[in-house]
Amino acid sequence: MRKLIPIYLRIPLLYAIMFAVLEYFIDSGDRPAFIKYPIVALFHVVFIFLLIAIEVVLNSVDKVSYQLLSPEEKEQYDLEQTKPIAQQEAFKKWMKKFTASKSINEEADVLLDHDYDGIKELDNVLPPWWVGLFYATIIFALVYLVRFHIMDEYNQDQEFATEMQIADKAVEEYLKTAPDVMDKDKVTLLTDASAIAEGKTLFDANCVACHKADAGGSIGPNLTDEFWINGGGIKNVFNTIMEGGRPGKGMIPWKDQIKPTQIQKIASYVLSLQGTNPKDAKPVEPEAKEWKDEATATSADKVASVVVDSTAKK
Ligand code: HEC
Repeated sequence: MRKLIPIYLRIPLLYAIMFAVLEYFIDSGDRPAFIKYPIVALFHVVFIFLLIAIEVVLNSVDKVSYQLLSPEEKEQYDLEQTKPIAQQEAFKKWMKKFTASKSINEEADVLLDHDYDGIKELDNVLPPWWVGLFYATIIFALVYLVRFHIMDEYNQDQEFATEMQIADKAVEEYLKTAPDVMDKDKVTLLTDASAIAEGKTLFDANCVACHKADAGGSIGPNLTDEFWINGGGIKNVFNTIMEGGRPGKGMIPWKDQIKPTQIQKIASYVLSLQGTNPKDAKPVEPEAKEWKDEATATSADKVASVVVDSTAKK
């Protein structure tokens, strides 16, 4: 067996197996176990050292036992070594253990006396590798039977639900640290109270200086009417807050200071103020155009809104 896999493959292979097993069984979160736990790193070093030591010892044992052979045995041994692996005695023995096959000259022993028009039948034993697998399936089935049909540990529906839960958690974890994933194309109007409330808090903190607390407008325009300079609707309003208004008008891009998902909430809050008619609202800006939402817009309006949309990007 040792001769089958050369040493320069054997050591890395054993090491890789050990590595995989350790990483699989030691729960070390998002970092590899050997970095998180120094003791594991130490184990790696010891393991490699042992691997090499064992190789060295086995090698010297081979050499010593070779020296102990008589000259004829040495010759026999050397001859054996020059043969291809499949013809070496050690390999043949090993194969025999796994297959229990009879060599051609032993076939007479297992020949049955059936004769089907000259076709004869051998009564070979089942190959041990196959029998082993067969017993393994029986053990598997027994364990399965007890766990899932007698103890009723869980069924497929429950397994699916738990896996989905784990996946949801992973997504949640990912989103916590992931760069904010919201943009002009994906943004949608939020209507749930907590999002609107969060939007209001952010608006009160950042925007009231120019738009007033009721969004009626002072330096910046009134945000509560249906007239928009840079286009209405969630996509345009989100975009204006992200990228700023027309250059030089005083509305800066907010994307560097506020996360896109938070801007989505602010934009949703702003749009929730539509039609609130605050007192002393700023008059409609001369450049502003009336905005109709996609859903209520006629096709003529849609053409108009596309025009408005294109100004928003400038
Ligand atoms: C320094 C003053 C100032 C601040 C602070 C400010 N804005 Fe503005 N805002 C403006 C001005 C001026 C305009 C008009 C821009 C233009 O003409 O293109 C504007 C335009 C807008 C528009 C587009 C209006 C339209 O008719 O197209 C929106 C939406 C808006 N602001 C939202 C906000 C939000 C939300 C905040 C807080 C995060 C904010 N603004 C903070 C001055 C400000």
